[in-house]
Amino acid sequence: MSYSKRILVTSALPYANGPLHLGHLAGAYLTPDFYVRYKRLTGADIVFICGSDEHGVPITIAAEKEGVSPQDIVDRYHEINKKVFEDFGISFDYYGRTSSKVHHQTSQEIFTHLYEKGFFKKKTEKQLYDPKSDMFLPDRYVKGTCPNCSYTEAYGDQCENCGTSLSPAELIDPVSALSGEKPELKETEHWYMPLGDVQPKFEGWLKTRKNWKPNVMGQVKSWLNDGLADRAATRDLTWGVPVPLKDAKGKVLYVWFDAPIGYISATKEWAELSGNPDEWKKYWQDEETELYHFIGKDNIVFHCIMFPIILMEHGSYVLPENVPANEFLNLEGKKLSTSRGWAVWLHEYLEDFSPDLLRYALGTTLPESKDSDFSWKDFQVRVNNELAAVLGNFVFRAVSFTQKFADGKIPQLVDPKKTDTEALQSINTQKEKVTNAFESFKFKEAITEAMNLARIGNKYFTETEPWKTRNDDLQSCMNTLHVSLQICAALSVLMEPILPDSMNELRNQLGYKEIPNWNTVSDSMLIAGSSINLGEVLFTKVEDEQIESQISKLEERSATSNPTSKFTPLKTDIQFDDFMKLDIRTGEILEAEAIKKSDKLLKLTVDIGVETRTIVSGIAKHVDMKNLKGQKVSVVANLAPKKLMGVESQGMILMAEDTEGNLKFVDTNAEPGSTIT
Ligand code: 2FM
Ligand code: ZN
Repeated sequence: MSYSKRILVTSALPYANGPLHLGHLAGAYLTPDFYVRYKRLTGADIVFICGSDEHGVPITIAAEKEGVSPQDIVDRYHEINKKVFEDFGISFDYYGRTSSKVHHQTSQEIFTHLYEKGFFKKKTEKQLYDPKSDMFLPDRYVKGTCPNCSYTEAYGDQCENCGTSLSPAELIDPVSALSGEKPELKETEHWYMPLGDVQPKFEGWLKTRKNWKPNVMGQVKSWLNDGLADRAATRDLTWGVPVPLKDAKGKVLYVWFDAPIGYISATKEWAELSGNPDEWKKYWQDEETELYHFIGKDNIVFHCIMFPIILMEHGSYVLPENVPANEFLNLEGKKLSTSRGWAVWLHEYLEDFSPDLLRYALGTTLPESKDSDFSWKDFQVRVNNELAAVLGNFVFRAVSFTQKFADGKIPQLVDPKKTDTEALQSINTQKEKVTNAFESFKFKEAITEAMNLARIGNKYFTETEPWKTRNDDLQSCMNTLHVSLQICAALSVLMEPILPDSMNELRNQLGYKEIPNWNTVSDSMLIAGSSINLGEVLFTKVEDEQIESQISKLEERSATSNPTSKFTPLKTDIQFDDFMKLDIRTGEILEAEAIKKSDKLLKLTVDIGVETRTIVSGIAKHVDMKNLKGQKVSVVANLAPKKLMGVESQGMILMAEDTEGNLKFVDTNAEPGSTIT
């Protein structure tokens, strides 16, 4: 258990360049919220910080796509993302933004301090430059052909078709994504963090870290084994925090230099707002503070190596106690991808379901130690079989029985039997398990153990049969209700970090005005004689149709938004009747001749069973004339005739076009005249 004086928790700052989806929630926001809510209940001094990451190339790319300024983009998504976090009950104490004045000042101060200590190495190097746009090109701004899969729209940092990480130098025929011009190499100066030089000192610190997750430590060790390389802390860009040096005109801080400093600046803004501007120092500059960074695994190197080195070299800041990074969440067995439309957007989810359902379902599927998968079917099972059938059902039975048969008052416990005392004891046993799981960042386990208490309660209720004992052993019946309500009271606290809205409703039903402290959770939280209130059923079942509609929504979106696929995007739906209007037949080419003055068109004589047709087809460059006679083809037979180069074409031969533009026959082995449907 941790007895630190105070705790600072941060969640990775999401880029303010688009809305948030399930993967975000599962990666870096839900688990810290579980943790912080739990810690707050224990009375810990804890602050939870997040905000928008508003610099970096993803923002400028989003701005360019829409033809607006980067500031417009971040203003929009900062508000949208802040709201969706609130709607999901992610209880940040402060949600800042890296375009704020305080952030710019803080980042510049930290850079200057390091500069004055002689931390940075200044280097002159050659970088890709777009003469037409008069700017150096970030890797994302260089496009070309992927050396791995030949995709022609690969970016200088990654090919989105095959997923390979690239550097601009590897692209075949690179061009600037801004102007389409071939980039040149031009000299520029940058300030580098000599991470390799401080590696031994850093490793010394790393050895003092306890209980880091194996997936996190494994990744860190692998970077260290490769040897840390110098990393530039500055960039040639216009959008970002200006480098606070005279000889750095037109340069900004590297986004991964300034973004984590956003945690510090947001804490400053929080302190200012709470009326005690110096309060932030306690959380950042006093070694009694435990700092925890919650992130997704793609951020490990920055939070576990680069930012700690920045803080360590600065000398005035606390370093992270732990960085409990999550792995990735997949969706319906596939990698989440916003560009491919394979995502569940959080704001859209909220149109159909309540936040607690997803908090629970995701909480039980967290990618804590390896990638995991979210599926809508599993969501339904979790809600129906666990939340509704176990927790909700148990609470409803306990509360409604008390309402009906005990005058709405918590009955006395008199002469309890072994089954009653055992059920009561399970409150303490389960509380200990849940507490230990939260303390060791094992959130799935915390949820399972809390839900096990509801399971125990439900089973106990069924086995003691109060619907029978109320007729022949009233005290037994009252004892069942007393014990069950005590379990409900414990659950209303133990489950609070996971299900804040539902547990608030449960506490209302139990007559609580405030949330009891975690440490007061026991087998005697409720006083006999006090009133309870029958309220809403906590959870309603999710119907099959609701799930089917979510799955179809996902599939439709993915089918229509596939910008990086090498294939032509799908056309919009047509009605069955429209399709049935087409008369497609098997045909056989009887003769073929070239059409004079055209290098593309052929005049074909085609037997379509019912008659012989003349069809003009633009396939000359794709076929061998010698092989055409006897070739089976698919013919659109009821296309209105049309004259092409003076010849009337009485139909159309269907051809399949591959990604290179090659045409191939849609071959069939049926007899000419056979309909194709
Ligand atoms: O990966 C991301 O979405 C980054 N915007 C995370 C930044 S975390 C921190 F360093 F600010
Ligand atoms: Zn590729």
